[in-house]
Amino acid sequence: MVKAHICTNNLNLWFGDNHVLYDVSMCVFENRITAMIGPSGCGKSSLLRCFNRMNDLIPSARIQGSILLDEEDIYHPKARVTDIRTRVGMVFQKPNPFPKSIFNNVAFGLKIQGKHSKSEIMDRVEKSLKDAWLWDEVKDRLHSSAMSLSGGQQQRLCIARALANGPRVLLLDEPTSALDPQSTAKIEELCLDLKSKVSILIVTHNIAQAGRISDYTAFMYLGELVEFGESSQVFTVPKDSRTEDYLTGVFG
Ligand SMILES: Nc1ncnc2c1ncn2[C@@H]1O[C@H](COP(=O)(O)OP(=O)(O)OP(=O)(O)O)[C@@H](O)[C@H]1O
Ligand SMILES: [Mg+2]
Repeated sequence: MVKAHICTNNLNLWFGDNHVLYDVSMCVFENRITAMIGPSGCGKSSLLRCFNRMNDLIPSARIQGSILLDEEDIYHPKARVTDIRTRVGMVFQKPNPFPKSIFNNVAFGLKIQGKHSKSEIMDRVEKSLKDAWLWDEVKDRLHSSAMSLSGGQQQRLCIARALANGPRVLLLDEPTSALDPQSTAKIEELCLDLKSKVSILIVTHNIAQAGRISDYTAFMYLGELVEFGESSQVFTVPKDSRTEDYLTGVFG
């Protein structure tokens, strides 16, 4: 039986007067890839940002409903936001490495925590870079600037940086939309490899990509979760006509 790892329950979100998420209830399952698809502006990124409280950084954001991570309410007044962001890592559309060395990008979070020895940090950096399939390409230039890497390498570095904190869930917001087909294929394969370690929620505009890598698919439309289920079902026998229309390109 597959375990629900992080679940929203009747989640509503507003930015000022703009109601952007309506009663969203969905789960990300343990060691599975969940894809979130839907037209531009339907609330995919906003929903993703609820999962690690990134919307807290937007003053006009107001949220109602709950999100349970390993059965703990991440919006509980006593929940620690830094702890949540350690457990729920995030990677964005555009690779955004820090203007630091490759090594220091991955070591950054660990150094801030201030509880790891130098050799522990070295080990964790190496392991994270290996898990992100970047180690072999950078092991001889760990102290070069991260900015000297290609776009695809930078995105895998951002994944390594997220992995270094030992997250349980990884949120990926259109991680390949700025990449060439080869780098995209590599990240897709990497996701399939990573799911044995972390639960993945990936937003994508690429329906074929969702079909290739996801176990579950969530289809969002105008702030509503229209359909959520196993990808094999959503892609072949969608329950809602809007899902079918989106998948067949009636609207984009
Ligand atoms: N920081 C913000 N402040 C105010 N409104 C926002 C903010 N971010 C998003 N919104 C609004 O929330 C709604 C949903 O936007 P969101 O970015 O979540 O959509 P999306 O599905 O990710 O779109 P895209 O596919 O284009 O990335 C939109 O109406 C948008 O204008
Ligand atoms: Mg978005």
